[in-house]
Amino acid sequence: MSDLLENGWRRVCATADVNDGELKRFQAGEIAVVVVGVGDEYRIIPPFCPHMAEPLHESGICRAGTLTCSKHLWQWNLLTGKEQGPAERPLLFYQSEVRDGEVWACVDKELVYEFDEEDDDDFEW
Ligand code: FES
Repeated sequence: MSDLLENGWRRVCATADVNDGELKRFQAGEIAVVVVGVGDEYRIIPPFCPHMAEPLHESGICRAGTLTCSKHLWQWNLLTGKEQGPAERPLLFYQSEVRDGEVWACVDKELVYEFDEEDDDDFEW
């Protein structure tokens, strides 16, 4: 089966490739994405943290439906993408669905975060 369907939908991985609570990076055609296992669902997100662009497949921790970036502890609800705790920007999701044991995403347009230049200077531990 082709990995490309109409309207920007692409096969990203098999459901067996990503377990509950795991984050893994894949290519969906030209676009890099991270697939997150959330219970028996999947979220497909841009590969970088909305705060300071850490690679979320390395810095992200997924527990009980919450994604935490271990760099500065921004958190998001993985069902809604809504910010939790200190996070100041929502998490973006690609539209996704499971078809016959495979995870597909609509990647007709790359989702990118706009980073504030002063984020580099403002953060203090
Ligand atoms: S880079 Fe992820 S919370 Fe700061």
